[in-house]
Amino acid sequence: MKIAVLGAAGGIGQPLSLLLKLQLPAGSELALYDVAPMTPGVAKDLSHISTAVKVEGYAGDDIGAALTGADVVVISAGVARKPGMDRSDLFNINAGIIRDLVQNVTEFAPKACIGIITNPVNTTVAIAAEVLKKAGIYDKRRLFGITTLDVLRAETFVAEQKGLEVERNSIPVIGGHSGTTILPIFSQVQYATWDKEEIVELTKRVQNAGTDVVNAKAGSGSATLSMAMAAARFTQALVRGLQGETAVECAYVEGNGEYARFFSQPVRFGREGVDALLPIGELSQFEQEQLQAMLPQLKADIELGEKFVA
Ligand code: NAD
Ligand code: LMR
Repeated sequence: MKIAVLGAAGGIGQPLSLLLKLQLPAGSELALYDVAPMTPGVAKDLSHISTAVKVEGYAGDDIGAALTGADVVVISAGVARKPGMDRSDLFNINAGIIRDLVQNVTEFAPKACIGIITNPVNTTVAIAAEVLKKAGIYDKRRLFGITTLDVLRAETFVAEQKGLEVERNSIPVIGGHSGTTILPIFSQVQYATWDKEEIVELTKRVQNAGTDVVNAKAGSGSATLSMAMAAARFTQALVRGLQGETAVECAYVEGNGEYARFFSQPVRFGREGVDALLPIGELSQFEQEQLQAMLPQLKADIELGEKFVA
C-alpha cells in the first residue's frame, strides 16, 4: 500500500505521519507532501525510525511524484480555525485548496481512496466529489470525510462520565462535522443508564469539543494530536479493508441519500473502499429530533460545495 499525506508538514500532518510510520503494515510506503519546503526534512526525520515503512517527502511542485501509485490519499492541507471563527469561515481559503489538490489526485492517482480532514468537512467532501465527477472518475465508495475525531471524543467523554473502560464502547457519531450536525448516539452505549439531561449535555460537549480546543490553544490552531490519532485510526481501518480484512468506522460518505447526499454513519471497509453502509441503529426521541433539526444545515453545507465547483 502507498499512502500519501497532503498537508504533511502541518500540525496534523506531522503527528499523523509519525503514527502511520509506526502503524502501517510492513512494506507500506508513506509519501509526504506539503507546500512547505521543510517536507522532505520531515520525511528524512521519520525515515530514521526503525519500522518497515518507507517514507519519502515532496514539496512545492512535486505533488505528482507524491501521488503517483497512491492507494490512499489523506488530506489535511489548509488553514485551521482561530478563536471566534466557525469551521465555515475556513471555506474561502480551504475550498480552493481542496479543489486543486483533488484535481491533482484525478491526474496522478485516479484510483486512490481519498480521506478528507480539511474543514469545513461537510463542504470540502462535496467539493472533492464534484471535482472527481467532472474528471469522470467519481466512485462514491472511495471518498470519505474523516469524522473519527467525533467518535474518539464521544468514547472518551462517556468513559469519563460513566466510569467505563474506553475500549468497551464504540459510539456511532452520525451526520456531519460541525456544530449541531455532529450527533453522537449515546442511547446505544452499553453498560450505562442515562437521564435525558445528561445526554443533552454530553451531546453539546461533543459538538463544542473542537471549539473548546481552539479556545484553549488561544489563537495557535485547532486540534492536531487527537486529530492525528483519529486520522490514523481511520486510515488503518481503510487499509485493513483494502487488504481484504474486516474493518468498521464511522465516516462521512455519499450513502443512499436518506438524510442528505453526504452523511456520516458506520461503514464497513472492503477492497474497493466502502463495502457496505451499516445501519445507524435505533435512535432515542431526542436523537431523532436532533437528526431532523440538523438536516437543513447539512444540506446547505453540501450545496455550497457543489455550487463552488459548478
Ligand atoms: P496547519 O496550518 O498546522 O497545517 C496545514 C498544512 O497545510 C500546512 O503545513 C500548510 O503548509 C499546508 N498547506 C496549505 N496549503 C496547501 C496546499 N495547497 N497543498 C499542500 N499543503 C498545503 O493546520 P492543521 O492544524 O494541520 O489543520 C489542517 C486542517 O484540518 C484545517 O482545515 C482544520 O480545520 C482541519 N481539522 C479537521 C479536523 C476533523 O475532525 N476533520 C480536526 C482538526 C482539524
Ligand atoms: C475539530 O473538531 O477539532 C476540528 O474540526 C477543528 C476545529 O476547527 O474545530
